[in-house]
Amino acid sequence: MADISTHEKPAEAAGTTLLSVRDLGKTYGAGPGEVEAIRSISFDVRAGELVCVVGPSGCGKTTLLKCLSGLLHPTSGSVALAGQAVVAPPKKMAVVFQEYGRSLYPWLSVRDNVGLPLKARRLPRGERDDAVRAALEEVGLGHALSTYPWQLSGGMQQRVAIARAIAYQPEVLVMDEPFAAVDAQTRADLEDLVRRVWQDLGVTVIFVTHDIDESVYLGERVLVLSSSPTVVQEDLAVDLPSERDQISTRALPRFTELRTHVHEQIQRAKRGDRTALPAT
Ligand SMILES: Nc1ncnc2c1ncn2[C@@H]1O[C@H](COP(=O)(O)OP(=O)(O)OP(=O)(O)O)[C@@H](O)[C@H]1O
Ligand SMILES: [Mg+2]
Repeated sequence: MADISTHEKPAEAAGTTLLSVRDLGKTYGAGPGEVEAIRSISFDVRAGELVCVVGPSGCGKTTLLKCLSGLLHPTSGSVALAGQAVVAPPKKMAVVFQEYGRSLYPWLSVRDNVGLPLKARRLPRGERDDAVRAALEEVGLGHALSTYPWQLSGGMQQRVAIARAIAYQPEVLVMDEPFAAVDAQTRADLEDLVRRVWQDLGVTVIFVTHDIDESVYLGERVLVLSSSPTVVQEDLAVDLPSERDQISTRALPRFTELRTHVHEQIQRAKRGDRTALPAT
């Protein structure tokens, strides 16, 4: 059986710039009904980073992710992945959305759901089965190959969606509030799963959430967005130990400092105050 951690490692050397967002702006519609969702966002993500994006509801997080993943064309500015302009969904990128219920096909088994993108890539059956099995093992669902999504809990369905993304061996894994619809305990387990997948596979992760604690617990870096029309309010390095644990990490004084800092920053963002807080 294939071991997913020994799969081909991402091509970009860790630490080099992988994703580059420059002066990205997005306005929906035109004329009196137009909505300027994003004014101007610029940032770089290095290969192998785990970056969380946090911001007030409606500030344009999903819009940003759709632009990053080539699902939406920005009105201004540009996105480049490994030096190539993103104008359509790149092969190197996989996206996991919030609504697992709508992202899995109920009439396909878990095996076939996870294998679907690999089939579309015309991977031979044997290799496809190995990759599907390894991805499901990675998310703790090695036993669920023949079940159907509707036989699984919400948290398990979201793990299937993550398995589908990693079976594809992306260089960049983009996640849009993937755990918003599951209970707190499941959410904690899924957060740890994301960090483990990130560490095991060396994939670059961009994780959008409106949950401040989640952004600090998960991220090596947190991008705080302002309210709409949106800019980057702060780009914060998370200097917590890389081995994280739901109980001890969240009990660290540094965790509390960082979450308080991000919280204050979001409150400023909601008030329309774009000045950065002093570093914490
Ligand atoms: N297809 C669309 N047409 C017009 N306006 C849109 C469209 N999609 C989003 N918007 C508007 O753009 C702004 C940003 O929306 P977006 O969904 O990106 O925010 P968000 O930060 O993901 O919100 P949430 O936290 O609720 O998920 C909002 O004002 C929204 O109403
Ligand atoms: Mg959203």
